[in-house]
Amino acid sequence: MTLPILRTTEDLRARIREWRCAGESVGLVPTMGALHEGHLSLVRLCGATTARTCVTIFVNPKQFAPGEDLERYPRDEAADARLLDAEGADALYAPDVGDVYGPGFATRVAVGAVGDDLEGAFRPGFFEGIATVVTKLLMKALPDTAFFGEKDYQQLVVIRRLVADLDIPVAIEAAPTVREADGLAAASRNAYLTPAERERAPRLFRAMVSVAQTVDAGGEVDAACADARRTLLDSGFASVDYVAVRDAETLGPPAYPARTARVLAAARLGTTRLIDNVAVAPEPGHDS
Ligand code: PAJ
Repeated sequence: MTLPILRTTEDLRARIREWRCAGESVGLVPTMGALHEGHLSLVRLCGATTARTCVTIFVNPKQFAPGEDLERYPRDEAADARLLDAEGADALYAPDVGDVYGPGFATRVAVGAVGDDLEGAFRPGFFEGIATVVTKLLMKALPDTAFFGEKDYQQLVVIRRLVADLDIPVAIEAAPTVREADGLAAASRNAYLTPAERERAPRLFRAMVSVAQTVDAGGEVDAACADARRTLLDSGFASVDYVAVRDAETLGPPAYPARTARVLAAARLGTTRLIDNVAVAPEPGHDS
């Protein structure tokens, strides 16, 4: 394996400085590891966009609330490193908590309204934790471009907001959601699903597609979302946190068809929380 694994900000910056001195552009792919095809699609997009690809793996404690799955979040750095090596990534930054949050660490990045509802309403502190760590990762690496998945759509909107607001000189590129053949979005937490839950899981995607089609055909948004919620509960989901249609850019109330809209949903199968989203009128290549 030739992939260098960097543990400190100092080593990360030294490596990136070498690339910069050679005139090479740099891309960053932030992750929490347990890599799957969704992550690898970002690595490939990065490889096709910038001369160098740096992936980060850091399970960020600040985006887990007490009682969430921080301790049991899947971790397998050796397997992840092999996958990244096979994809031709140029470096992996995998720090421990001390390199990211040093003694006396106190600053928080809060993004306001865009992070307050949907996921933010069910996971207090979640987007503040994400905004803080993503700001730090971007400032550590200062890449030309950083890559994020549409799978975590609200996260993407939050990150675009903070980069614009804080004048961080990094372009943000989004990649479409990678799905299993039956429609389930690839996710590290899918590993928690029992075989019976795994079989039911694609119903979340199907329910969202049905909302998207109803809205696209001029149907009533609230009724479509209520229908989807009922279908999910009837088909074995333990609870539905939200099924919502929002403006694709601001996540405010939808003004479809004048502006593009997005269906977003979160629901629990057993103890596993799944989140997903689809475009109301998908562009080719961004169908979900
Ligand atoms: P993680 O869940 O590991 O995801 C890392 C990146 O992979 C995110 O940009 C996410 O949207 C993308 N991703 C996950 N599943 C995907 C799929 N099925 N298709 C396409 N992209 C997918 O998101 C995080 O980590 C963290 O919050 C992070 C941004 C790293 C900050 O800690």
